[in-house]
Amino acid sequence: MSGADGVEFFAGEQLVLCNDERLQLRAVIAIDDTTLGPGLGGVRCVSYPSERAAITEARRLAAAMTLKNASAQLPYGGAKSVIIAPPSWADRAAAMRRFGEFVMRAGGAYLPGVDMGTTTGDLAVIGEAGAEVSCSDEDPSPWTALGVAAAVRAAVAHVDGREDLDGVRVLIQGAGHVGAALAADLAADGARIAVADVDGERAAAVAAAVGGSTVAPADVIGVQCDVFAPCAVARVVDAKTLPALRCRMIVPASNDTLSATGDAERLAARGITYVPDFIANAGGVIHIHALRAGHDHERLRADIARIGGRVRELLDEADRTHETPLTVAALRVKRMLAGQRQGTDARYDREVLHT
Ligand SMILES: NC(=O)c1ccc[n+]([C@@H]2O[C@H](COP(=O)([O-])OP(=O)(O)OC[C@H]3O[C@@H](n4cnc5c(N)ncnc54)[C@H](O)[C@@H]3O)[C@@H](O)[C@H]2O)c1
Repeated sequence: MSGADGVEFFAGEQLVLCNDERLQLRAVIAIDDTTLGPGLGGVRCVSYPSERAAITEARRLAAAMTLKNASAQLPYGGAKSVIIAPPSWADRAAAMRRFGEFVMRAGGAYLPGVDMGTTTGDLAVIGEAGAEVSCSDEDPSPWTALGVAAAVRAAVAHVDGREDLDGVRVLIQGAGHVGAALAADLAADGARIAVADVDGERAAAVAAAVGGSTVAPADVIGVQCDVFAPCAVARVVDAKTLPALRCRMIVPASNDTLSATGDAERLAARGITYVPDFIANAGGVIHIHALRAGHDHERLRADIARIGGRVRELLDEADRTHETPLTVAALRVKRMLAGQRQGTDARYDREVLHT
């Protein structure tokens, strides 16, 4: 349900506004869905133009986490929180600790992790009040990159009917933690890599390491390539960039690739195969689950490799049903959650009402 001001206050399960003026703490915890388990999602700490913008972002990102965690078949629901960063903190640690108290009140329904603007150190402080947090120092980026690489291979196999990447032109926007690892992985299989980064030195170093080339950040959208892999910023695809894209497939590491859901249809109409970001970049959450569940790297690697199979199934079903991969993926999650709820209701009937 959307209010007169457009904020979807009642779209998810629970929305918590946290306020402590003394500590400059204003935060939003959005728990979108806990059908499959506690809501797993990061704590974002950035400045926002308004309180409404913060609430809207928390809600939207929490809903995306439901799709990501369910699609990856993890035992978690979707949630996200945002802390509205003040121009400067008087005592950041105290604010984080206080935020942890609010997380505690969610009674385990929210499992926070690192996101934009927070560190594993912040998460450790947030956990001081007793809430379970994921704050491992192990960098998830190589695992995310591994999953994106599996998604690239699957997309190429689907679109071009080939199992190799020899000569496939991959354009990577963002030569950071994920982009650099992705470039190395795909180049090792024969892909021709082009890299763009606002940090020119970083782009040049990654391109040199993989025998690839660099592209000016402002030119990324118009570059002719087979696969475009956004690994930098959100909402790369919008009404302005969409007609200018010269790729055949988009396989993102970045979250929130599309500015509007209609973009998925518009990409399909242009013959561009879009792998939903929440499918391709799930390596990070699969990594968090592996840490919590005590899985070793071999098991984790196998779980992440399944992203490839998932992408193939999704693209096949999209072809069969003439829906976009985004619609197919969202419908699958909807059905999965409905099935789980039905099972829970049936168990409740059996075990509670009839005993
Ligand atoms: N790290 C993970 O495990 C993970 C998991 C899921 C999603 N993601 C998403 O993937 C993306 C990359 O993550 P990361 O950990 O590699 O981040 P990072 O900060 O290490 O790298 C991002 C890179 O993008 C560059 N950049 C920023 N704006 C740019 C622009 N407009 N054009 C070109 N380059 C630009 C930065 O200079 C930096 O080198 C982010 O959007 C992140 O939210 C990351």
